Amino acid sequence: MNAAVQQALRARSWQTAEPSALAPETSRILPSGNRMPLLGLGTWELQVHTAETVCSALELGFRMVDSSPTYHTQRGIGDAIRACGFERGDIYVITQVEPLGDTYAALHKNLLQLKLEYADLVLFHLPEVEDGGEMAWQALRRAKRDGLTHDIGVSGYSIDALEELVYRTGEMPAVNQIEWSPFGHSPRMLDFCRDNDVVIQARSPLTRAMRLNDDKVTTMAARYGKTPAQLLIRWNLQLGVVPLPKANHVQHLRENLNVFDFEIQPHDMTRLNALNEHFSVREGLPYL
Ligand SMILES: NC(=O)c1ccc[n+]([C@@H]2O[C@H](COP(=O)([O-])OP(=O)(O)OC[C@H]3O[C@@H](n4cnc5c(N)ncnc54)[C@H](OP(=O)(O)O)[C@@H]3O)[C@@H](O)[C@H]2O)c1
Repeated sequence: MNAAVQQALRARSWQTAEPSALAPETSRILPSGNRMPLLGLGTWELQVHTAETVCSALELGFRMVDSSPTYHTQRGIGDAIRACGFERGDIYVITQVEPLGDTYAALHKNLLQLKLEYADLVLFHLPEVEDGGEMAWQALRRAKRDGLTHDIGVSGYSIDALEELVYRTGEMPAVNQIEWSPFGHSPRMLDFCRDNDVVIQARSPLTRAMRLNDDKVTTMAARYGKTPAQLLIRWNLQLGVVPLPKANHVQHLRENLNVFDFEIQPHDMTRLNALNEHFSVREGLPYL
């Protein structure tokens, strides 16, 4: 079997999150036909030495970087991609805009900060705007036609908000980026996104380190010879969710990529799912 067929089969079987299909080089195929890596780097609060840290992450093997102007990391991310000698097409870049005002102009401004010609994915968040995000969507659709982004997604949307957006625009976002960990997630959202071909990207997948000392998680992680962070990342991957762990420390970056050599057994996946208490690092899970 040639490599391209193998890759296509892997990508297809990944849709059902078969653990055996998970490999560092596997990518998710979006409805647009574009590919997205299975795991990305979060960059909130990575504003100290951003370029160096992102460069280390890319050299270690990260191929996707999440950004937003509110993280103040976009300049450093763009610098890292160029300084570390990567081709633009090798790295998947996510940026974010607010749904108020001119989202086309906001995306353009982000790209200027990143010094990139396009984003792979632009997200807009806060579904509580009066029009459900319709204006933002239309402007970003224009941006997509003009080549400023390859895909459009949302952030923090509930199922009702997603349905409202589809009702108004006739289109389903490629991605919903939401807080997601064993301690705080939604089986209903998972089913909805699977049924509608929406990728869930997990923000704060490590609970901002607040729950990494949980007894059940540490005990289970030790049984697999892994750390709690690796267990949480792997749990996401096996659900078919794309985690975006942030790490300043190189040791953490290395650890967070080293999640493709073990498999959480079904009964342990069930135990991790059962930890759900709708925990949030902030003011609650806005998508519930
Ligand atoms: N769209 C939005 O509104 C939104 C909101 C929140 C988050 N996000 C995205 O999601 C990303 C991730 O979420 P987050 O930054 O809130 O938190 P997170 O990724 O859940 O946790 C980050 C924390 O975990 C620590 N850590 C990382 N790897 C570790 C490891 N292997 N072992 C032990 N500790 C480890 C980090 O430490 P060190 O840094 O010291 O290494 C940091 O303190 C953000 O950076 C951002 O890109 C988006």
